[in-house]
Amino acid sequence: MKKIVLFVLVALVTVFQFCSSSKKAASDSSHITYARNVQPVIQANCSPCHNPPQGRAKPLNSYDAAKAHADEILVRIKKSPEEKGFMPMRHPKLADSTIAVFEKWKETGLAE
Ligand code: HEC
Repeated sequence: MKKIVLFVLVALVTVFQFCSSSKKAASDSSHITYARNVQPVIQANCSPCHNPPQGRAKPLNSYDAAKAHADEILVRIKKSPEEKGFMPMRHPKLADSTIAVFEKWKETGLAE
């Protein structure tokens, strides 16, 4: 019984730490970089379509490409899913906190 309680406690602490550290990363606008914050989001939500050679839409899987399309990316992900041009295509709208990553990346100078 004691072991179970201990396990639950450890699990809770781990989950709590994970949540608070990811929140910190998203809200700490001075440290938004492509490699750390933007690339994982694109990898998770925009591939394979924007990930050549599997995807045939414009490549967005490099710093240069993402930077060059930063404005257009923001326009597309802020649309509502029923609007023409909405991204990620055929997927639910990104969370506000995820959209904020792109916004802060742009505001802070599109760091690599
Ligand atoms: C299911 C496939 C698919 C997914 C997932 C997807 N896209 Fe797209 N995307 C497309 C296609 C196809 C086009 C070209 C048609 C158009 O412009 O709407 C496109 C076009 C775009 C363009 C315009 C590029 C240009 O021509 O200037 C941007 C920007 C874009 N997507 C961003 C994103 C972002 C950011 C994500 C992830 C959050 C995403 N897309 C996810 C298929 C996808």
